[in-house]
Amino acid sequence: MLLAATEMVRLNRLSEDEKAKAFEKAGSIIRSGGLVAFPTETVYGLGANAMDADAAARIYAAKKRQPDNPLIAHIADREMLSVLAADVPPAAEILMDTWWPGPLTLIFRKLPQVPRGTTGGLDTVAVRMPDHPDAARLIRAAGVPIAAPSANLSGRPSPTTADDTMVDMEGRIDMILDGGSCEIGIESTIVDVTEEIPMILRPGYITYEMLQDLLGEVRIDKPLDPAHQKDFRPKAPGQKYTHYAPKAPMFLVKGDRSAVVNEIRRLTELAESEGKRAGILCTDETRESFDRGVVLCLGSRSNLGSVAHNLFHLLREFDEAGVDLIYSEAFPDNELGRAVMNRMIKAAGYKEIIV
Ligand code: TXA
Ligand code: MG
Repeated sequence: MLLAATEMVRLNRLSEDEKAKAFEKAGSIIRSGGLVAFPTETVYGLGANAMDADAAARIYAAKKRQPDNPLIAHIADREMLSVLAADVPPAAEILMDTWWPGPLTLIFRKLPQVPRGTTGGLDTVAVRMPDHPDAARLIRAAGVPIAAPSANLSGRPSPTTADDTMVDMEGRIDMILDGGSCEIGIESTIVDVTEEIPMILRPGYITYEMLQDLLGEVRIDKPLDPAHQKDFRPKAPGQKYTHYAPKAPMFLVKGDRSAVVNEIRRLTELAESEGKRAGILCTDETRESFDRGVVLCLGSRSNLGSVAHNLFHLLREFDEAGVDLIYSEAFPDNELGRAVMNRMIKAAGYKEIIV
């Protein structure tokens, strides 16, 4: 499916009048079954009318996404939830009061009018109210919930800028709304509230620790635990697919900081001696230790928010630099580190070097 051209709308260059017209046009594209990519506080989404199975099918085609991998419906207010969810359990009320709008997706039992083409054939629907003025304005302009996966080609790192979105989606969708770079940089936390004890299906910016503090009891879907990854099928179908992968093979190097630095230096020299270019994903704390290869810095280890914010964009920069291999530092697997490591381990295709 190739469209003629993908229109890039740079929202910050428009007057208020021009902006109003741009959102009107974007809303009418969505209502008539087309595809519009838009910014959220997590990553860019690839939007279509969530209530229209044919429109949802266009998302799968544009992304080359597996048909059993359901989409998240994005809403602008609580009223829109009532056209999607069959019931709203008490834990969901607490979560929505606390974190909506925000980077939290909830799984509800779906109403019959939500097409199975949107939910990957499931009887549940994932819903999120994004905390981004452009996303909210687009949903309001469309007047319908907007189904939106991350706006990358399936398997690639999620885009966190409009230009990264264009790299994957040029000629495949109608329009991209450029609202700048996404603050959080990794996708929302997904919590299944159809379970008696709410269950985390994908870690994100809202952490296990924060959810436990609020609700008292939460579970984490077993396959998210590295010890169980191979034995169980994840409840979020998307979690079983290869994901976030840069073009070059990536290796996570784990251990004491100085041992990790020495091993990455050694591997970089080895790669060079074989005529290959290595990419290094490092932190402020280790930046000075690397003097060869393509060195990109995630930010400080003491600010995992910046690590999350930079991760996907830097993986795409390695593609542009054309490196042959990528060696990356790793992070502690708790709090926000759990969400960061969930993305990194998949980007690395589970390849680890323990030093
Ligand atoms: O931050 C985000 O959530 C971004 C922005 C655009 O909002 N969206 C996003 O969508 O990450 P996507 O499609 O890349 O990831 C959706 C995940 C997949 O792992 C999918 O399997 C899971 O949500 N999911 C969707 N509906 C589900 C359902 N009914 N039951 C279980 N998992 C579901
Ligand atoms: Mg995705």
